[in-house]
Amino acid sequence: MSSKFQKLIFCLYFLCFALTIVDAVTITLQDCLKQVQGKKVFPNDAEYSQDIIDENTRISYDPAAIVYASSTNDVQISVKCATTLKIGVTARSGGHSYENYCLGGRNGILVVDMTDLNNINIDSKKKTAVIGAGNRLGTIYNTLSKSGFLIPAGSCPSVGMGGHSLGGGYGLYGRKFGLASDNILSIDMVNANGDLITANANKNSDLFFALRGAGGGSYGIVTEITFKLSPTPSTVTSFSFDYELSNIQSAFNALNRLGSGIPAEVTMSLSISQNTAQIVGVYLGPSASARSVLANFIKSSSPTGTQFFEESFFSSVVRWGYQGVQGTINPTHHPNSFKAKSFFVGSPGLTSAGVKALTNFISTIQCSTFAETDLIGGGAVNSIAANETAFVHRDSLYMIQLYTTLTGDESTDKTCLSKLASFGVSFQQKFTSFFSYQNYIDRDLKDWQHRYYGSNFGKLVNVKNKYDPKNVFNFPQSIPLSAS
Ligand SMILES: Cc1cc2nc3c(=O)[nH]c(=O)nc-3n(C[C@H](O)[C@H](O)[C@H](O)COP(=O)(O)OP(=O)(O)OC[C@H]3O[C@@H](n4cnc5c(N)ncnc54)[C@H](O)[C@@H]3O)c2cc1C
Ligand SMILES: *[C@@H]1O[C@H](CO)[C@@H](O)[C@H](O)[C@H]1NC(C)=O
Repeated sequence: MSSKFQKLIFCLYFLCFALTIVDAVTITLQDCLKQVQGKKVFPNDAEYSQDIIDENTRISYDPAAIVYASSTNDVQISVKCATTLKIGVTARSGGHSYENYCLGGRNGILVVDMTDLNNINIDSKKKTAVIGAGNRLGTIYNTLSKSGFLIPAGSCPSVGMGGHSLGGGYGLYGRKFGLASDNILSIDMVNANGDLITANANKNSDLFFALRGAGGGSYGIVTEITFKLSPTPSTVTSFSFDYELSNIQSAFNALNRLGSGIPAEVTMSLSISQNTAQIVGVYLGPSASARSVLANFIKSSSPTGTQFFEESFFSSVVRWGYQGVQGTINPTHHPNSFKAKSFFVGSPGLTSAGVKALTNFISTIQCSTFAETDLIGGGAVNSIAANETAFVHRDSLYMIQLYTTLTGDESTDKTCLSKLASFGVSFQQKFTSFFSYQNYIDRDLKDWQHRYYGSNFGKLVNVKNKYDPKNVFNFPQSIPLSAS
């Protein structure tokens, strides 16, 4: 027999053997998940290809299965199956991870989708709400405001409260009320053993510290979160100021000089794109006071136009709810292919050279790109100590997000990504603080451990060793077992 033929037989035999193993694993996982009540989707199912499309289509992974947990028990069964079969397991709440870490950041893992864990139980007397991790921000704003309450959070209605509030969560009510994570009172989580445990100020307080800022994916699967509620103001005023791109420096000057002195009832965000520049924001009160509180800022930044809209709290949520698409609060997602960088900037703010570098980058890159600068300084986020929760970025004046939408053309996108990468490095070195925002997670960020978690990183590693010593919950940028 020729050796070629022998090799072929061997290869076929080996292939068959390999396929049998893969098959055995699939069958075992299916068997193991038998007790799960919620929907299960496996790679051969028709809906699989649709169910793995999340917000960012730039990267995708092929999970071994997706379980739509219908109860805490389904989550527990799933975690136990994953550990028994030694496959990875990860939670997906809203699917808005910038690196698609809701699919684990690698192939072949078990995804526990939290969509159906969507209870919202309001206790009006205690001013608290127990919120299932699978709820979307839009649904939460809507439901709570009908009872006269709010939780501060981001603007995009389809973002999931699970990932969002475990990593921080900043939006247009944040200078008054802080981060979503700052308003958490208690967290229920399924740990690596499949046990349901509670973390709050009195119970597992070290885990409670870690979950508020570093909780996305690293310690367990959070099933529900108890939030402190704040009453909605009877009326709020949304506003927008337009700027000439050529005059953007004056808007930054005003943010730098006046930003942290503006009352906490105002939160505002400056967006710069290839051809527009605009500040949008909300003042928690009537328009006459909004105009007077912002008069100095307007005078000093010289916008080409200003608009004020006195409205209900929920109308302001809807107005800024989806990147310029007014009137929608529909929490369905809008998949697109993107990459982003984030920067925290302390006082006295970006220098004029920094502003020039940023605007020059945006106007020359081939892919549609915007920079969003969220004012933080002088607000509630600053008033909590950096070591009180895992969210370390407490002394910032503002945060800048630089967001590039890819075109779909491979060579253009390759150029855009490499330009964004090198600009991100040099901009951070020359003009911003060392730190970046963990909720705008970026797989290419060097020294992300300290850029995301700063002086809290060592403590987060200790908490990881205590609650997940076998590193069951891991993804490419999860809190590791060792600090080095
Ligand atoms: C369009 C858009 C707008 C955004 N706007 C804002 C904004 O205004 N302000 C802001 O602060 N951020 C904003 N973000 C960022 C957002 O907060 C993060 O992407 C957040 O992680 C998304 O949470 P998710 O549950 O939707 O995502 P997922 O992809 O489901 O989860 C993100 C990470 O958290 C983990 N995770 C999810 N659920 C759980 C759980 N139940 N238990 C444990 N781990 C879990 C996942 O495994 C993954 O690692 C925005 C993102 C997008 C795409
Ligand atoms: C937090 O830091 C402050 C100093 O900034 C210190 O006094 C305090 O003990 C620290 N708290 C914890 C829990 O480490």
